[in-house]
Amino acid sequence: MEFTKIPGIDMPVSRVGLGTWAIGGTFWGGSDEADSIKTILKALDSGVNLIDTAPIYGYGFSEEVVGKAIRMHGSRDKVVLATKAGLQWQDGKIRRNASPDRLRQELEDSLKRLRVNMIDLYQVHWPDHGTPLEETAEIMLNFQEEGKVRAIGVSNFSPAEMACFNAVASIQTVQPPYNLFEREMEKDILPWCQTAGVTILGYSALCRGLLSGRVGLGTEFHEGDVRQVDPKFQPPRMNRYLAAVSELDTLAREKFGKRVVHLALRFILDRLKDGVALWGARKPEQLTPLEACFGWVLNPASMDEIDRILKENIPDPIGVDFLSPPE
Ligand SMILES: NC(=O)c1ccc[n+]([C@@H]2O[C@H](COP(=O)([O-])OP(=O)(O)OC[C@H]3O[C@@H](n4cnc5c(N)ncnc54)[C@H](OP(=O)(O)O)[C@@H]3O)[C@@H](O)[C@H]2O)c1
Repeated sequence: MEFTKIPGIDMPVSRVGLGTWAIGGTFWGGSDEADSIKTILKALDSGVNLIDTAPIYGYGFSEEVVGKAIRMHGSRDKVVLATKAGLQWQDGKIRRNASPDRLRQELEDSLKRLRVNMIDLYQVHWPDHGTPLEETAEIMLNFQEEGKVRAIGVSNFSPAEMACFNAVASIQTVQPPYNLFEREMEKDILPWCQTAGVTILGYSALCRGLLSGRVGLGTEFHEGDVRQVDPKFQPPRMNRYLAAVSELDTLAREKFGKRVVHLALRFILDRLKDGVALWGARKPEQLTPLEACFGWVLNPASMDEIDRILKENIPDPIGVDFLSPPE
């Protein structure tokens, strides 16, 4: 494992974090609690100490499972627990709400579900344009001053939104999408963070499984799985992404004796330097490739080759607009 530092958190933070969106079940066609717990325990036993969750993941269920697993593992003081706030749900409808009252309620609910009295990294999940950013920042700062939150993060924020927030409350991390196929943040968020000293937690490290090497045209997803509507998973566009996966896998095998899943993780670790890759898993065996992601690096020639493969196969890459919750 490789480690990084997040200001406010007084222990080294693993550069691969376990993402627990799928463990929540919603948007992933359900999940199995026993498998989920085994997955979290396996991650912790494999050197991952950062667990990322959110209330919206299974409408509280992911946080409950994370809380249960950490208690079973008996290592709360060695885990960097990251959760989020600012999305409200009612009757299956989700909307952004990062108002101070909402966040105060969410914090108390998350602490209960996670069975802890403090959250290591508390992140605003999406910018809420119906609430002045300064008000959201102010309440996050209050949580930190009250000792309920160690570090403050934001997610899906633009550099302008981060700058505005940062003027009121110092941001320690930002969570944008980042993987081989979703690289928009390299243009503006990455340089902004490098200048401001903000740690990047790149989400969807495997592009929702597309970069695992296990997804093909015939792969069927359960009812309610986000990949039924994810535009990258719809032919004919999907064919081009799969062609890229195949070429990337060949590169990984021939140059490094690895597979595309390792290459996908290594790419993020090498590009982000001090950043973190959030890897989503809900079955313990999905974490088997973790160990082989360390102990090697992508040299400049391989980075160029990756860029060539992506450019040739996917001349019109698309982002994650489909994930954006309504205001
Ligand atoms: N802040 C945000 O707005 C935001 C948005 C998205 C994600 N995130 C965070 O980032 C985390 C990771 O992103 P993600 O969950 O979207 O996706 P991801 O890491 O790109 O992919 C996760 C999925 O890939 C499949 N997978 C993982 N390892 C595999 C392996 N070794 N072999 C085959 N398949 C494998 C699994 O799907 P199956 O189980 O279906 O096979 C798994 O659920 C999330 O859990 C969450 O913590 C944050």
